[in-house]
Amino acid sequence: MRSSTFLSLATSFSAVSATVYKGFNYGNTFTDGSAKTQADFEAEFHAAKNLVGTSGGFTSARLYTMIQGGTTSDPITAIPAAIAEETSLLLGIWVSGGQTSVTNEITALTAAIKQYGDSFTKLVVGLSVGSEDLYRNSVTGIENDSGVGASPDEVVKYIGQVKTALAGTSLSGVSIGHVDTWNPWTNTSNSAVIDAVDWLGVDEYPYFQNTESNSIDDAYALFWAAYDKVTAVAGGKPIWITETGWPVSGNTENLAIANVANAKTFWDQVGCASAFDKVNTWWYVLQDAAPTTPTPSFGILGSSTSDSTMGTSPLYDLSCANVTVSSSVSSSATATGSASSASSASASIAKAGTASTTSSGAGTVSTGLSTATKSSTSSSSSASATTTASSGGSALVANFFVASAMFALAALF
Ligand SMILES: *[C@@H]1O[C@H](CO)[C@@H](O)[C@H](O)[C@H]1NC(C)=O
Ligand SMILES: *[C@@H]1O[C@H](CO)[C@@H](O)[C@H](O)[C@H]1NC(C)=O
Ligand SMILES: *[C@@H]1O[C@H](CO)[C@@H](O)[C@H](O)[C@H]1NC(C)=O
Repeated sequence: MRSSTFLSLATSFSAVSATVYKGFNYGNTFTDGSAKTQADFEAEFHAAKNLVGTSGGFTSARLYTMIQGGTTSDPITAIPAAIAEETSLLLGIWVSGGQTSVTNEITALTAAIKQYGDSFTKLVVGLSVGSEDLYRNSVTGIENDSGVGASPDEVVKYIGQVKTALAGTSLSGVSIGHVDTWNPWTNTSNSAVIDAVDWLGVDEYPYFQNTESNSIDDAYALFWAAYDKVTAVAGGKPIWITETGWPVSGNTENLAIANVANAKTFWDQVGCASAFDKVNTWWYVLQDAAPTTPTPSFGILGSSTSDSTMGTSPLYDLSCANVTVSSSVSSSATATGSASSASSASASIAKAGTASTTSSGAGTVSTGLSTATKSSTSSSSSASATTTASSGGSALVANFFVASAMFALAALF
């Protein structure tokens, strides 16, 4: 029974997509607010592809905005950089800045299609309309000053505008999604967004689940439990991992300690042993410490912005060699649950290889507990769309704290 379930899930999964993308998130500014240039993006994409130990696998880039830093509506120079570095793109449209900024985003997107043509559009994996807007719009997000968000109605409206703008272009068939933390996806008030998208993006950070037992030993189980919660509401639509990672430095969050050793363990268990090459994954983050180091810092590279040194100086071994998930962890994550439905295909596939780096062993899983939240951007609510988007994901602020507690309470009542 188990293997037949696996086979049917595997079949439906492979029918969805043959290529599984793997890469990093890229904001459009450095930590001092200065805009990244095309050369800066090229250096980053080049470093990602040349990371020691990774066999050139990290060839995809998720962006938060279509707009070049420091401009109103010029196309982001990550596009020509991606063309030069043959890096695929998960595009992002920032939608928490209101209609004017969304219009500017769409202007930049359509200008890029005209300017770069097929050399650009053939690299596009998908397009996210929004990033954590529903989290910032939630009770917890508002209480914690996470910044301006967007309502589900607004997100759906902007998705419609993007589709209208892309009609008749070579991106008219692009796969459109929305990225958020996992909790808003399970809030039924947001279900219109699920109905409107082709795929759901989840940002998941067990490190920030500080109202739960979130030591690195529990991180793998917390991660997949949250993923499964989204699977349960996704109606069979694919769930892409748009952000995850563990900080190399920063404050302790309950039992979660930010250090290089734990970042490596998280990379090994969540990345190597379960997500990479099974679910589209954009890790957080290649580099977030240039020129200054944020707290916490997730970057797997140091603060160098030099192409010659970035790719050769990961802070820990990325090779996935000798990766194992401890039996206590993997058994809780793979044996306690039953596959909720065929819609858990990607989760099940993702967790199929828990015991070795890329094994394709069978296993269907679904555990259900916990919450995942993280802060959104660090930008103040008054930031313009461009500046807000620029720091998207590049400077996390500890705004998450009570989110999971709130959710637990909401569940009780
Ligand atoms: C659920 O979603 C709605 C719409 O986004 C939001 O207004 C509400 O605050 C959310 N509920 C919680 C508990 O966050
Ligand atoms: C936001 O997060 C903090 C933790 O820093 C928590 O104490 C608080 O209850 C949350 N919500 C509010 C109302 O601030
Ligand atoms: C992996 O294990 C083998 C056999 O124990 C060992 O020779 C090798 O050095 C290990 N590789 C790493 C990167 O730890």
